[in-house]
Amino acid sequence: MEVMIEARELVKRYNGAPEPAVRGLSFAVRQGEIFSLLGPNGAGKTTTIAMLSGLLKPTSGEASIAGHAVTREPLQVKRVIGVVPQEIALYPKLSARENLLFWGRLYGMGGRELRRRCQEVLEIVGLSERARQRVETFSGGMKRRLNIAVGLLHRPQVMYMDEPTVGIDPQSRRTILDTVKELNAQGMTVLYTTHYMEEAQELSHRIGIMDHGRMIAMGTLQELTRLVGGEDLVILRVAQNGGAPALADALQVVRGVRRVHAENGAVTLSVADGHAVLPDLIQAANARGIRVAGVEIREPNLEAVFLHLTGRALRD
Ligand SMILES: Nc1ncnc2c1ncn2[C@@H]1O[C@H](COP(=O)(O)OP(=O)(O)OP(=O)(O)O)[C@@H](O)[C@H]1O
Ligand SMILES: [Mg+2]
Repeated sequence: MEVMIEARELVKRYNGAPEPAVRGLSFAVRQGEIFSLLGPNGAGKTTTIAMLSGLLKPTSGEASIAGHAVTREPLQVKRVIGVVPQEIALYPKLSARENLLFWGRLYGMGGRELRRRCQEVLEIVGLSERARQRVETFSGGMKRRLNIAVGLLHRPQVMYMDEPTVGIDPQSRRTILDTVKELNAQGMTVLYTTHYMEEAQELSHRIGIMDHGRMIAMGTLQELTRLVGGEDLVILRVAQNGGAPALADALQVVRGVRRVHAENGAVTLSVADGHAVLPDLIQAANARGIRVAGVEIREPNLEAVFLHLTGRALRD
């Protein structure tokens, strides 16, 4: 598959800073992927995004986007990427629509195409009803959503979203996460930064964990949690009263099952890979004539991975 974002040994040392903010970061994001950079405050996420956008010149190392070197072909790169910055970049006295028109013109858009696109992006982020209201009357979550709409105006193939859900209400957060998934389903490549592991887990195809300017681990959620000897929990609910102990009996002999526990009409199993053993579990239940009424697979989390790698908790 085509590589959309590639960082090679990126280093950034800010003028006068005692330590580099980013120290030799390499990673690649494939077309159609959602890749999350997960890391605590000061890990270097925003610095990395700024280098990948061409806003900040790396001290050393290189980046290319859709095959364009960021330092040599900045205009081609700007056409491909949409950036949703961590700091809100909106004019409070202007309406949502006026903000979009302003930014659209900066991108070189105009006329009917720009007006139509403004409507489309407002629709995407669920702000159509608010188009004519001043941004100063918006909630934090609505401002964040409008910030995203700005980034979408010129139909970028790649989106960088720098902690787009910090400090907002659950409903706006839900809208934003669903928007990211929807855009990705339509083919957009997404580079997402966060220090919320739940978001990284929910959204990402792959995750890079950053700390002190370095990538300390990278992979799918499953690959990362395997670093801590991760196991999945599979919870099977039983339809029949009192069926759980019988089901537990039937399942403990299934290959890949480690621990089995029956309680309150449900059987909880720990397995290395829940998705892989699930068909065998259902088959074993069926063979005993036990109907499974519900299935849940709980994967181990990134918090444990971060703790394992750094000896610190990811949360502030
Ligand atoms: N303009 C700057 N000048 C000097 N140092 C900077 C500058 N911007 C960032 N830094 C430093 O670089 C390091 C990385 O900062 P960065 O903003 O990239 O982290 P981050 O992962 O985005 O953090 P957060 O989660 O708080 O947004 C920090 O130590 C920060 O203090
Ligand atoms: Mg940041």
